[in-house]
Amino acid sequence: MKLFLNQEWQAANALRFDLTNMFVDAIGTAGIKEQEVETNKKAALEAEDSLKQKRPQLAWRDLPYGQTAVVSEIVAFADKARHKFTNFVVLGIGGSALGPLAVQQALNHLYYNELPKNLRDGRPRLYVIDNADPERFAALLDLMDPAETLFNVITKSGSTSETMSQFMLVRALLKERLGDKYYEHLVATTDSKGGSLVKIARQEGYRLFYIPEGVGGRFSELCPVGLLPAAMTGIDIEELLAGAAFMDQWIESKPLAQNPAYLLALLQILAYRKGNNISVLMPYADSLKYIADWYAQLWAESLGKRNDLTGKEVCVGQTPVKALGVTDQHSQVQLYTEGPFDKVITFLRVEEFRREVKIPTDFVELTNLAFLGGHSLNELMDAEQRATAYALTKAGRLNNTIILPRVNPFTVGQLLYLFEVETAFAGELLQVDAFNQPGVEEGKNATYALLGRPGFEQKKVELTSGAQKSARYVLSV
Ligand code: PA5
Repeated sequence: MKLFLNQEWQAANALRFDLTNMFVDAIGTAGIKEQEVETNKKAALEAEDSLKQKRPQLAWRDLPYGQTAVVSEIVAFADKARHKFTNFVVLGIGGSALGPLAVQQALNHLYYNELPKNLRDGRPRLYVIDNADPERFAALLDLMDPAETLFNVITKSGSTSETMSQFMLVRALLKERLGDKYYEHLVATTDSKGGSLVKIARQEGYRLFYIPEGVGGRFSELCPVGLLPAAMTGIDIEELLAGAAFMDQWIESKPLAQNPAYLLALLQILAYRKGNNISVLMPYADSLKYIADWYAQLWAESLGKRNDLTGKEVCVGQTPVKALGVTDQHSQVQLYTEGPFDKVITFLRVEEFRREVKIPTDFVELTNLAFLGGHSLNELMDAEQRATAYALTKAGRLNNTIILPRVNPFTVGQLLYLFEVETAFAGELLQVDAFNQPGVEEGKNATYALLGRPGFEQKKVELTSGAQKSARYVLSV
């Protein structure tokens, strides 16, 4: 039996939550009173009910379960492809890039790409292009031979300008270099019905993986969007999904007071209503650094909304900030401790790192250094996280800690799923649609207009006249 199916092992690898420092007893006046949680219980129960009713439409909720066939296909594909390619490049942006990046960083060697191939179990290097920056793109092509590279174009809509531009560039290059065989170097992950990519992929014979209907970009990491890149680099995607399923069952079976996703969301929203407009996610582990990037998109795009569900203008949302412990103790923590009372800091603490690094005993005559000797970097990280939580608590600042017994596919699967449901629940509490992103559309349309896409001529006129009006505030030498 696979270890992650063993209940004892699961219990030892379950996330834990310390929410003490969100409450008034721990931090004083800025904290939340238990009475406030009580008062909002009815709203929370309504949110729970509403989310339950919506579940059949929220296909991302079922990703931990319904993918046995696709997982086998992905694993089989990845096992074959790993021998053929030196590089695996994800062409995508936003929800089609941040998840693959976060999971790769969390679960592979921290210098995975720099390792010799035999230490990567013969698997390709992974690159994720999350932008349209010409220098980065050209630099990437300087680095690799297209003949040794497999490109995974990921786009739910099948028409995002940044991704499709990257795709057009790569396709042309592959055709030029490899002639008829170019299509063997392209894999498309996209919607089965809409968008241009699926049509092109079918016409030209690329390997295709589908993003299930009802799974939006930022909720798509646990479908082929994230599973294929993860499997290509040897991550156990079954364990990742088992972690998500474990969290789903936890969430579904517990009442509010013991429900990590609902309680975290409720405390964040209560804090937000008291003026805490900023949600900082601060992992104390380099491996979890990009989980904070992924979370930032999820929280910002899902909850930052002008209108509520009735159409009333509300302009709500908490601004996510990504930080890294210990690094940002030397950059941002001064502000968190003494600046405005406008933040909730969520720490991710790892109990058992995959490596232990001992600090040698040395400089015994220097008391300000000697005490470090004999400890480990592991202990140092742990002490720094506890110390920062203490300093924030002493300064009366809202903070909480999510504890990962260790970083493995099971705990990462739990974490991703937890944040997804927390976000959806927060959307219910704020009474907004957490699954659309109308605010992104205006910028997308303006880009189309500037680049001359047919149908956007009027937008171009609007844009150019706006530019003339504001030209007097443009400074140059
Ligand atoms: O969450 C979302 O829907 C967006 O952030 C998308 O992921 C992003 O805009 C990329 O879209 P697509 O996957 O359609 O290329």
